[in-house]
Amino acid sequence: MDVINTENLGKRYGQVEAVKGVSFSVREGEIFGFLGPNGAGKTTTINMLCTLLVPSTGEATVNGYDVRRQRNEVRRSIGLVFQDPTLDEYLTAEQNLRFHAYAYGVPKGTRERRMRDLLTLLELWDRRKHKVRTYSGGMKRRLEIARGLLHHPRVLFLDEPTLGLDPQTRHRIWEYLQDLRARENLTVFLTTHYMDEAENCERIAFIDHGEIAALDTPDNLKNAMGGDVVTLKAEDNELACRELRQRYGLAPEVRNGMVTFSVPQGEEFLPGFVRGFEQRLLSIGVRRPTLDDVFLKLTGHAIRDQEADAVEQMRQWRR
Ligand SMILES: Nc1ncnc2c1ncn2[C@@H]1O[C@H](COP(=O)(O)OP(=O)(O)OP(=O)(O)O)[C@@H](O)[C@H]1O
Ligand SMILES: [Mg+2]
Repeated sequence: MDVINTENLGKRYGQVEAVKGVSFSVREGEIFGFLGPNGAGKTTTINMLCTLLVPSTGEATVNGYDVRRQRNEVRRSIGLVFQDPTLDEYLTAEQNLRFHAYAYGVPKGTRERRMRDLLTLLELWDRRKHKVRTYSGGMKRRLEIARGLLHHPRVLFLDEPTLGLDPQTRHRIWEYLQDLRARENLTVFLTTHYMDEAENCERIAFIDHGEIAALDTPDNLKNAMGGDVVTLKAEDNELACRELRQRYGLAPEVRNGMVTFSVPQGEEFLPGFVRGFEQRLLSIGVRRPTLDDVFLKLTGHAIRDQEADAVEQMRQWRR
């Protein structure tokens, strides 16, 4: 069964077409990732699905409810973790959760038990009586996940759940999500611009400039690259590129001072190539393609750039 369904879903802000009519579905119990660079339209898409933004074009259903006409039903059936923190820093974890339970009409009887289960699972039980402003970034994120799940939603939406967290904390958050998915048959829809994290999703959609560039499992996306990626550094990279084009009919590109190209089978290609190559090689390596390679091939640019790093830094400082 499809838990999320969109058909030509789009959003325009004045002249900016933030989301250009995307169509996709998310299956029940799936961890589905929306992967794209800054400004790609990830938050705008999530906000339309969560009924926080009215679409300019198209249709969407979440849990079978129409995001335009059944907003309350959609809202009651989903949990949401926003890109930017929305906890009350001057309240304790417990108080934040109780407030949410009240807003969602969670009955008192089930509320305390659910709070205990979630706080225990997310390893916050011991800190439940402390004010949120004393929490680390990772603890705040965990509390937001607990809050998002308090009213037993069928789908959890997370907008960049691990942004700005250190690698260990990011890894833990993924463990919690996988655990929760298994326990509650939860469907998880998340956005990220971390490629390594997208590998944890069952399926991912690459979004770029408001359009879906590809949608499949991480393995299928990488296999579709058809082969291995060779990276080399020559004394003169430009000359090396010319030789690769003319003699081998390859399509090399220079990125970060390295020449990169794809070949069907790296280990067969490499020995003969190294013997016959006329440029002096400083280094050469072969590897399986990553999602970064796939994104680059599909869109012509890398998902992370310096600008994205700077934006992320700023977000981290703001926290
Ligand atoms: N309220 C708004 N008014 C005008 N333009 C907007 C508004 N919100 C978003 N945009 C524009 O829409 C586009 C998509 O923005 P969106 O926030 O959905 O991207 P994103 O993929 O979530 O990016 P990020 O990775 O930075 O969170 C951007 O060009 C952005 O500038
Ligand atoms: Mg965003």
